[in-house]
Parts: sequence; structure tokens; C-alpha cells
Amino acid sequence: MNNYNFIVWIFKFLTLFTASQSANILVFAPMPFKSHFRGFQPLFKELASRGHNLTVVSTFPLKTPQPNYTDIPISIDENILKGVDPMELASHGFLTVVPSLWKMSTFLAKKIIPKPEMQNFILSQDYEFDLVMVFSFCQEYSITLGHKYKVPVINLGVSTLWPSNSKWIGEPSTFSYILDQRTGATDQMSFIERFKNTVIGIYQLFLEDYYYLPLQKDTMEKYFKYKGHESRPPIEDMLRNVSVTLLNAHYSIGVTRPYLPGTIEIAGLHVNEPKPLIGKFLEFVDSAEHGVIYFSFGTIVDPSKLPNSTIEVFINVLKKLKQKVMWKWDSKNLPTQLPDHVMVSDWFPQPDILGHPNVRLFITHGGVHSLEEATYNALPIVGIPFFGDQHMNMRLAERNGIGKMVDHIDLNEKSMLSAIDEVLTNPKYKENSRIRSKIFKDSHLRPMDRAVYWIEYVLRHGGANHLTSSSVVLNYNQYFLADICLVIISTTAISMFLIAMLFKYTMKTKDYNSLKKK
Ligand SMILES: *[C@@H]1O[C@H](CO)[C@@H](O)[C@H](O)[C@H]1NC(C)=O
Ligand SMILES: *[C@@H]1O[C@H](CO)[C@@H](O)[C@H](O)[C@H]1NC(C)=O
Ligand SMILES: *[C@@H]1O[C@H](CO)[C@@H](O)[C@H](O)[C@H]1NC(C)=O
Ligand SMILES: *[C@@H]1O[C@H](CO)[C@@H](O)[C@H](O)[C@H]1NC(C)=O
Repeated sequence: MNNYNFIVWIFKFLTLFTASQSANILVFAPMPFKSHFRGFQPLFKELASRGHNLTVVSTFPLKTPQPNYTDIPISIDENILKGVDPMELASHGFLTVVPSLWKMSTFLAKKIIPKPEMQNFILSQDYEFDLVMVFSFCQEYSITLGHKYKVPVINLGVSTLWPSNSKWIGEPSTFSYILDQRTGATDQMSFIERFKNTVIGIYQLFLEDYYYLPLQKDTMEKYFKYKGHESRPPIEDMLRNVSVTLLNAHYSIGVTRPYLPGTIEIAGLHVNEPKPLIGKFLEFVDSAEHGVIYFSFGTIVDPSKLPNSTIEVFINVLKKLKQKVMWKWDSKNLPTQLPDHVMVSDWFPQPDILGHPNVRLFITHGGVHSLEEATYNALPIVGIPFFGDQHMNMRLAERNGIGKMVDHIDLNEKSMLSAIDEVLTNPKYKENSRIRSKIFKDSHLRPMDRAVYWIEYVLRHGGANHLTSSSVVLNYNQYFLADICLVIISTTAISMFLIAMLFKYTMKTKDYNSLKKK
């Protein structure tokens, strides 16, 4: 071997080695959905700290930069956000909520994807990646970046699967027992709930083909004109070609259901072991003779946008409680002065508060991240759900006996006080929360390690098409066995007809013969 070959060999060996060690990973998250992004951001940071090189296109750049984590920030003006009020979704019935979500995300895509900084990134030839991660929530056009960089794609699922995103990855969405979150039921459905679940499922699949996917294709064709886009396969083929789906769901807080090997539940990425409280928070919690109630509606439900009557209910209820209350409230203008046992702030060290033993109850909107934190800390909840998966989450929480739900429609002083009282005084809620917490934590890999393992698995194998079920290529006719049923039914019908004819004929000849004998 001459020197030159040897050096080339060493170089090849080194690049091979580093390629498996550290990968260039793109996270493409164009939509300004804060809670979706925040749920997965700890994973991006973790990948960077384990030596991968992350490039994150989003509207949520890091506040303090981190090595190996490059933000490509997308600016977003308040006017755009004013056009989309997630609370508006709360006013929809179960049939109109999906189309309205699709309309909202298409509106946002048309505002955000054409932005210069976004187009610079999409059209740029300066980047190379080994893996692309996209959010599967109403932004299917993102899948085309897998084609642009000729690399495998990982789906990030922000909640439980819907029938329409199940279809692409070949997961069953059997309507009899696999719950669509819009049904607002638990997975033990009554006849009416099963009926609703079926209607939502069928109508979603139908509308997706004729209304939604064309909108997504349109966005993709118009705004993803990178060099080589002409050779891109149909969007359906790309959506069927995802390597692995990481889902922010877990059977300890949600439902138990079958998954293919490439769909991994990783709920709890953002949940950390609580640290001791300090300063005024510690003082407040420690001095609470009857314990503390933590009251927060997370990041999407803006409490100051709630109707005045609702805010009044909250204030009157909080005034009557003997427990101390920590109330996360974003707006400066509270209508009245609150008594001393209520601490109001737009920021709390939430993970550490939820872990403090003197905190007895969490009043929440029922978002999946809040539920994960409550479950981790074995903290009972009272939930006031508004939209999205919140009703389902709270119904499941009630089913699991870890809390009570007060629907925002039935919300009044009496219903809220009685729910709080029930959860605080009946010991079964704490007991069930402890049981759920143990189930949540009992796993051979932490959610973070599980997520990183599967991402590196896809990198090691250059994609994971061997995990894809062949059900993804079946059409409805084949999937639901309509063709087979037709053959079975028609063969049975024809055979029965022939047998009947034969029978009739033999009867006739018999009659004839016996007549002749007489
Ligand atoms: C950044 O990634 C490189 C490998 O690409 C790694 O050696 C280094 O430790 C990483 N830096 C940090 C701070 O994690
Ligand atoms: C990491 O990614 C950035 C793009 O976001 C790129 O500029 C940089 O060269 C990459 N670093 C390595 C070591 O590949
Ligand atoms: C599917 O993904 C693999 C990489 O994982 C890629 O090589 C292939 O071209 C993709 N096919 C389609 C139709 O997107
Ligand atoms: C709610 O109360 C605020 C002041 O507390 C007032 O400015 C606003 O007009 C009220 N809104 C409604 C719908 O009554």
C-alpha cells in the first residue's frame, strides 16, 4: 500500500467513525406552536450535548446559545398570531374542529413559509444533513426536506395519533377501541362514543384526501422550490417513508394500544427531577399550614383572554380556599385585590413546585405536558379543559382516578369548589397518583434515552424502512378487505342460489316420477 492510499484509507476510516459518532441533524419546526416545540426542545439540546450538530429552524430560538445547536430563527409578528386564537378551537363541535385546525395551519403556513429567512434556508445549498426531524402536526409539506437532503426522516408527534397521521405510518386506528382525541372519551367507549369515534375517523380520512392534502401539496409546490425539487416523489410516498415516529404519549397517562416497532412513546422528555425551592417560593410553600394548590393553564390558554365571568369564578373560589394558592397569571390587570394566601405571578419554578411535598393539588387545563409533570410527581389534579386533547386527557385522568374534570362550559363556583374539595379530601386520588407515577417511571430506558436511542438507530441504519408495515401501501379497499368480502359474499350467494335451484329441480323430477307411478 503506498502512502497516498494509506492516507486516503485513514481519512475514510475517520469520517466513517465520526459519522456514526456525530451527525448533522435538521429540526424543521416552522409553526409557532409553543407547547409542541417546548415538549421536544429538551431532546434537541440533549442531542447537541451528546455531540450531534443540531440545526433548528423554528420561531423559538434558544435564549442562551448552546454549543452544537444552531438556531435559524424565523421571526413572527404579533399580527399573524392575532389571526389565530387557539381558544377559538374551544368553541367548535367535534366535527368542525378538525377542518378549522387545518384551515388555521394552512393560513399560518402561507404567512410563514414565504418569509425571506425561511426561503433563504429552503433554497440554500450550503447545508448538508444526515437526518431530518419534522413535526407531523398539520405541516405535512415539511416531509419534502427528506427528499431535498436525501436522508431519512423522523416524525415528532405532539400527542396521540389521529386516524389521518396513523394512516401514513401504517398504524391501526380501529375505531372500536383506538380513541381519536376529538371524541373526548376514554378508550372504554359507550355505544354513542364509539359511534362518534367512527364518524370522526371516517370523515377525517375522507376530508383529508379531498380537502386537506391538496392544501398541503399546494404549500409544498409553491414554497419548496429548492434545486432538484422537480424529482420529488408524490407527497403520499414521502409521508409513507418516515423511518421512526416519536410520540409524546404514554400508557400511564393515556391509552394502551398497539404500535408498530417504529412508533415510540417518549412522553416525559421535558420532565426533570425537582430541585429544592428557594427564596420567596420556598417561604410561601413551607409556611402553608393546609398545603398549597398550584394553579396554571400552561402556555397556550391565556387566562387573561378568558371571559370576565370565568375569571370572576376563579377569584371567588380562590378567596374561599384555606390552602395557599400559587396562581400563574400572565396579565398585569387583575380585576380585584387578592388576599394574602394567593400568590400571583407570570412565572413560577413549576417543576420544583410540583415536586414539593407540601403542594397537594394542581389545577390545570389538562395539557399533556402538565399531566406528565403531575404524574411524575404523583400529584392529583383538577382539570378545566378547553380544546384539543385536553378533554380526552382529563377524561382519562378521571378514569385513572388521579383527578376530577370541570368542563369550562359547566364551570361555576360550586362545581369548581366541589371538585377541589373532593380531590383534596378523598385519599384515593393521592393513592392512584402514586400508582400512576410508579408506572410512568418504571421503564428500562428513560424517555430521553429512548428517544436518543431511536434517533441514533435511524442514523446507524441510514433509515429504518425495515420497520415500515406493508399496510401503508394498501388502499382502503384492500385494507378493509372489501374486495375479499365481496368475493366471499358473492361466491356464497351464487352457491346458495345454485343449491336452491338444484334442490327445486330434484324435487320437481321426484314429484313427476311419483305422479307417473300412480
Ligand atoms: C460538539 O460536537 C463535537 C463533535 O462534533 C463534540 O466533540 C463536542 O464535545 C460537542 N460540544 C459540546 C459542548 O457538546
Ligand atoms: C454544524 O451545522 C452548522 C449549520 O447549522 C454548520 O454551519 C456547521 O459547519 C456544522 N458543523 C459541523 C462540524 O458539521
Ligand atoms: C425513502 O427514504 C429513503 C431513506 O430513508 C430514501 O433513500 C428513499 O429515496 C425514500 N423514498 C421516497 C419515495 O421518499
Ligand atoms: C372585563 O373586565 C375588564 C375590566 O376588568 C373590562 O375592561 C372589560 O370590558 C370586561 N369585558 C367584558 C366582556 O365584560
